[in-house]
Amino acid sequence: MGLQDYIKDIARFGLENDQDKLLSTLNQFIEHSKKTRKVNFAIQLQSILKDNIRQQKTSSLTKVGSDAYFSRIEDREFNELILEKITSDYRLSNIIANKEIQNDLQFFIEEHQNIDVLRKFELPVANKLLLHGPSGCGKTLASYVVAGELQKMMIVVNLGAIVSSKLGETSKNLSKIFRSAAAEDCIIFIDEFDSLGKVRDYSQDHGEMKRVVNTILQLFDYLPQSSIVIAATNQKEMLDEALLRRFDFSIGFELPNAKEIKDLVTLVLKGNKFKFDNQIKANKIIKSAVGLSYFSIQKTLITTIKRSLFAKEKNENYFSTLKINSSIWEELVKNEKKALAI
Ligand SMILES: Nc1ncnc2c1ncn2[C@@H]1O[C@H](COP(=O)(O)OP(=O)(O)OP(=O)(O)O)[C@@H](O)[C@H]1O
Ligand SMILES: [Mg+2]
Repeated sequence: MGLQDYIKDIARFGLENDQDKLLSTLNQFIEHSKKTRKVNFAIQLQSILKDNIRQQKTSSLTKVGSDAYFSRIEDREFNELILEKITSDYRLSNIIANKEIQNDLQFFIEEHQNIDVLRKFELPVANKLLLHGPSGCGKTLASYVVAGELQKMMIVVNLGAIVSSKLGETSKNLSKIFRSAAAEDCIIFIDEFDSLGKVRDYSQDHGEMKRVVNTILQLFDYLPQSSIVIAATNQKEMLDEALLRRFDFSIGFELPNAKEIKDLVTLVLKGNKFKFDNQIKANKIIKSAVGLSYFSIQKTLITTIKRSLFAKEKNENYFSTLKINSSIWEELVKNEKKALAI
């Protein structure tokens, strides 16, 4: 069946209220989309379907105290906790890093691409990944790369937000998130993982925080082999030794050196669309930008490209290769360094 046939069937069964046929067609359509390489679309559609079925199960009149009643409350609370549920198109080629980091990421991804082989030989699967390092150096990006390469949905959880708003309920909430992610075969990405350590500093409630750390330890220990947890922090030193030990892999991101900045520039310039007006000067700026994060450098370069584009005479051919004004970039990099006191 082609795309149009699926749409016609979906419209017909939807309008006829024929739930069974509609679901069966949607499932076939999901399989068809996977086969025709529209995997992200298929994952999203599948998620809509699952969410809906779960809601339908619980939206009919429910008796207080019944399973359905609790599951409806759980759903509502769960939605409040999740910041984002995403799919990603990022690949390993989108991230600039030294060979070691590239290899570590690739190994982690390969384990999950070959999970059946590992199972056959009864080898454990590495499924807990810690990403640490300074801000703007690719931790969140790396989580998107893993989700993109494995074509899995990812639940992004901001631990800082959960801990600070509902400390008393954090353990319960975390268990809920882990359970739901396992059921839906999602990756769990826990951002601001260091909040576990931080809150202990100023919170009066040491007992509560200890419980949260213990919950995390338990959730990690009993994590199903097929589930993946990625945690990110820019303050690794805030974390307990017991927590750190639980991770199978720990990848440390660093500020880029001159070569990595050059690679980032090439990535941003996207082939031949944009070129510097003065390559020698650009090379000098690249060297002077050492000390800034990937994010800061990318930001200054993109701003420079935009300003160079706007400065172009209106009657000039807009689509010929754009010359990037390296003086603007030099100024922006200088300002950025000054702002960050580098
Ligand atoms: N190693 C990298 N390679 C290519 N681009 C990068 C890299 N690091 C950062 N960037 C760019 O900067 C953006 C922000 O980076 P990212 O969100 O991954 O930083 P982070 O390490 O998670 O920072 P934070 O600790 O503040 O959350 C990315 O979306 C990407 O555009
Ligand atoms: Mg981040």
